[in-house]
Amino acid sequence: MENIITVFVKEESGELTPIQVPTDMGLSLMEVLKGSGYPIEARCGGMALCATCHVEVLNDPGLREPQDAELDMLDTVPNLTDHSRLSCQIRPENAFDGLVVKILGDH
Ligand code: FES
Repeated sequence: MENIITVFVKEESGELTPIQVPTDMGLSLMEVLKGSGYPIEARCGGMALCATCHVEVLNDPGLREPQDAELDMLDTVPNLTDHSRLSCQIRPENAFDGLVVKILGDH
């Protein structure tokens, strides 16, 4: 079970919901969140073109810096935070165990 990490989703209530996330299946965080039942539209299918998968990263597990396409798209969201990311551009890695995100995308 080495290639499974736990990602926490901060709910509206403030509660943290743990999600088991495989790191060896090539899934994006957006796909994992969708698969866990969160209502993320992901209209562009993970191409960094719609921002409906917008999340805020509430801790810093050492995510890679966003690429230009992601930053450009984040510039268009009304509820941008200092720690906003597109979850379709995050590939879960073992080092990200304990990642905490809040879902901000419109849905
Ligand atoms: S799914 Fe469209 S930007 Fe992430």
